[in-house]
Amino acid sequence: MIDSSPAPARSIITFPLPREPEIRVVPTISVVVPTRNEAGNIPELVRRLEMATGDCSLEIIFVDDSSDDTPKVVEDIALHATTPIQLRHRPPDDRPGGLGGAVALGISVAQAPWVCVMDADLQHPPELVPDLFRQAISTESDVVIASRHADHGDMGEFSPLRKHVSESSTKLAQLAFPKALDGVTDPMSGFFLIRRDAVDLTTLQPRGFKILFEILCRTPGLRKSEVGFHFGERRSGESKASVQEGVRYLRLLLDLRFGPGWLSFVRFGLVGVSGIFINALALAFFTEWLGIFYMISAVAATQVSTLWNFALTETVVFDTPAGSAGRPRRAVLFFAMNNVALGLRGPMLYVLVSTLGLNYMIANIISLISLMVLRYFTADRLIWGRTPPPAGPSMPSGGAPPTFGVHPLVSTEQVH
Ligand code: GDD
Ligand code: MN
Repeated sequence: MIDSSPAPARSIITFPLPREPEIRVVPTISVVVPTRNEAGNIPELVRRLEMATGDCSLEIIFVDDSSDDTPKVVEDIALHATTPIQLRHRPPDDRPGGLGGAVALGISVAQAPWVCVMDADLQHPPELVPDLFRQAISTESDVVIASRHADHGDMGEFSPLRKHVSESSTKLAQLAFPKALDGVTDPMSGFFLIRRDAVDLTTLQPRGFKILFEILCRTPGLRKSEVGFHFGERRSGESKASVQEGVRYLRLLLDLRFGPGWLSFVRFGLVGVSGIFINALALAFFTEWLGIFYMISAVAATQVSTLWNFALTETVVFDTPAGSAGRPRRAVLFFAMNNVALGLRGPMLYVLVSTLGLNYMIANIISLISLMVLRYFTADRLIWGRTPPPAGPSMPSGGAPPTFGVHPLVSTEQVH
């Protein structure tokens, strides 16, 4: 049988390689294996998977981002394997989400009701797959995680540094998501079995290694359990873990926790702090040098710092939709917003100075900071027009698999 689902342009699709016509049997488990330069591991992985799963019907899906001859090795193996094998090779310029994107693509084309995600390098023992399946059935779980930290599990030969990084990432995740990760000792694992229908792929925005973590956080109500395992040694080739993957993880964690706008808020805050300095300088200049009454100076200082903030906000805070188009309109709105804010700050300033006896420079800074959050949300929603994201695309029925990683951003409501 030949894969009939249209594939992304230029992918190599082999499902399984043409052989005698056979009866299409829906497998029980689709094993999804993301691969990047794993040619030396594929034959052993397929052999051990077939041995381990015996009478349980399986399909294996390789989602490949390799530059070595992994695809060729997979094709050769598929000719002789008793298990149906799919190969989805992603071209170098179309690999959204890296490892996580590959896993999401694998899940989207899986035919079985259960999907087991595992690495190709045999650090995840294929012999555990039946245990994960038995556990899923006996505990009625939607997801069973192969955990290095559960009973009978261990991290194997990780370097002390990698152990430390892994443990800290896990602790951080558990602190940030106590509910979603309740009872999960290894949310960083790359080895798990999941009921295909329990994952809503449209909610995912995969990037990098931590796809299980994202699924757990974005899928409220998943029934979870774990099986401990020994994280083995890589059989051949090299690990693709990197500092860049660490940074990707931290960004994922912050996006999941605070929503995708957090980085704009941080940038807005930094620009705001620089604006406070400018405002204070201008206020001192008008009041001390020109001898203007501080309440009047505050009005003038606000125009100066608003100009400063506008230029920076326009260039570094928000991804301005269409370059300079609409800039005059945004400028007018931004000045209007800051002057309305000044209308609130004015009385605050006056009260702080005249009744509490604060220095006018200090009172000015307090008044600026106190309106920062309000100004951010006005700028974010009304001026730079970051409206709430539309719903994610639905899974095409029979169409090409969605390209993961280019979904509209998902709101925090979906995270629990
Ligand atoms: N398709 C694709 N694209 N596959 C990739 C990519 C990529 O960009 N990067 C890595 N892979 C594949 C590798 O070929 C391997 O099969 C698997 O993903 C894991 O990559 P490794 O490089 O072996 O990762 P690791 O051993 O350092 O880390 C693994 O174990 C950790 C602990 O369980 C991963 O599974 C991590 O996600 C996991 O946290
Ligand atoms: Mn590995």
